[in-house]
Amino acid sequence: MTRSRAGWDIHFDAGGSLAPPLAGSQGVARAEVRAELRRCREVLPKLQGSHPPSGFVRVLKRTAALRAVQASVARWRARKPNDLIHIGIGGSSLGAEALLRASAHPHHGLLSDRQRGGPRVHFVDNVDPETLGSLLEVVDLRHSLVHVVSKSGSTVETAAGFQVLRDALERVGRGVRWADHCVFTTGRGALRELGTREGVEILDFPADLGGRFSVLTAPGLFTPAVAGVNVGAVVQGARRYLSRIANAALADNSAAVSAAIAYLMAEHKRKSVHVLMPYADALEPLARWYAQLIGESLGKRARRGARTTGVGPTPLPARGTTDQHSQVQLFVEGPADKWVNFVTVEKPRRVQRVAGDEPADYLEGIDLGTLLRAEQRGTAIALAAARRPSACWILPEIHPQSVGQLFFALELQTAYQGALYGINAYDQPGVEAGKIAAFALLGRDGYKKEKAAIEANTPPSWRI
Ligand code: PA5
Repeated sequence: MTRSRAGWDIHFDAGGSLAPPLAGSQGVARAEVRAELRRCREVLPKLQGSHPPSGFVRVLKRTAALRAVQASVARWRARKPNDLIHIGIGGSSLGAEALLRASAHPHHGLLSDRQRGGPRVHFVDNVDPETLGSLLEVVDLRHSLVHVVSKSGSTVETAAGFQVLRDALERVGRGVRWADHCVFTTGRGALRELGTREGVEILDFPADLGGRFSVLTAPGLFTPAVAGVNVGAVVQGARRYLSRIANAALADNSAAVSAAIAYLMAEHKRKSVHVLMPYADALEPLARWYAQLIGESLGKRARRGARTTGVGPTPLPARGTTDQHSQVQLFVEGPADKWVNFVTVEKPRRVQRVAGDEPADYLEGIDLGTLLRAEQRGTAIALAAARRPSACWILPEIHPQSVGQLFFALELQTAYQGALYGINAYDQPGVEAGKIAAFALLGRDGYKKEKAAIEANTPPSWRI
C-alpha cells in the first residue's frame, strides 16, 4: 500500500492521564499541562538557533553528512561482508541497535545471504569475555566489517573490544589488513588519530551532540544502513515530524505535551517511574534506548531554591503482551508511582490468523495483531480502573518514516523535560565519575590521586 507522507504520522494519546476522570492527585488537568507548556516556548527556537544547547535538531538539515554516510554504506555493501560487528556502548550502540531491530526483518540474522542482502549484525556493547569470545568462534573475520563507534575515542569498554578484534584480525594472516576491515565513527581523539595513521575509513561523529542523541546521524545510521535499512526514509520521517510541530501551537506538539505531562507526573503527582511499553517486539530495543536517553539526560542534580536535589524520572522498559504476565501486576496494584506509556502499531506488517481449534475456539479467524491491540486496550482499561495513569504513542505502521518520527519525538520530548526541570540534559557528570574510577582501578597513567582516594574510601566487605 502506498501512503501519503501524512499516512506515516505518529500520534500521542494522553486521554488515560487526564483528571478528571482520574483524581487530581493521580492525573493531570489540561490547565496544568498548558501552564507547563508556557515554560517550553523557548526550547525549539533555541535548539534551532545559532548556538543550540545540542545539535540534535540541527543535524536533520545536514544533508551532506547524510550523503557521506550513504556513500560509505554503498561502498561497504558492494564488498558484501557476511558479518558486521558494531562496537560501542551507551548512546554509541543503543540507537543503532534499536533502529536496526525496528526497521529490518525481525529475523534478519536467520535469513539466507540472498534474502538478507546485507551482513548479519552483532552488537558488542559490553566487555563480557563470553560474548566477544564466542562471537569470534562463529564469524569469519576475513568476510567481516567492524564498525567502531566512540565520540570520545577513549571509552574503555569500546577500546578493549576493538583491541581484541584488531588482534584477532591481525592473526588471520593471509594478506588480511585489519584497517581494511574497519570503519571508525568518532570525534577528535585517540581513535581518530589511530585511524588516520593506519588508513581506516572514518565517519564524523557530530561534535555538537552526545551519543544518546545521535541515532539519526552516522553513529546510529551506518550499521543499520549497511544491513539494508532505508535510513534516508528514517531521517525523512524525523524531518517530517519537525515540520509538523515547528509552526504548530505547543498544545499540538506531542513531544512538548508528553514532556509536560511527564514532568507533572514526576514532580507533582508522585509518579516517578515512567514505563515505556511497546506492543511490538521490533520496538523493544527502542524502549531500552529510551531508558538510556531519559536516565542519562534527566537524572541530574538541580537547584531548588537554596538547596540542591536529585531529579529525574526512573525509566522502565517493558514489553506487551509479555509483561502482562509479569510487571503489569505491579503497575496495576503495586505502589501508585508509575506512569505507563504504551507504544502501539495500528497495522502490523504481517497478518497471522489463528485457526479455530482447541483450547481456544473463540480465537477462530482472529489476527494476532487484533489480539495484540485488544490486550493493550485491556491493560489500559485495567490501569484506569485502578486509577493509574497511562498514555499511548501510536504508529500507523512500523515503517522507516514512522520509526524516524518516533525516535525524534522522544529526543525532543527529553529536551522539553530537561527545560522543565531546569537542568542540562546534554551532559553526564555521573557517568564520567564512574569512567574515571575505572581508569584509576586499572592503573592508567595520570589517575594516581584518584586511585589513592578510592583505596582510602573502600567500603567494608560484607560477604556471606
Ligand atoms: O549518550 C552518551 O553520551 C553516552 O552514553 C556515550 O554514548 C557513552 O558513554 C559512550 O561514549 P563514547 O561515544 O565517547 O565512547
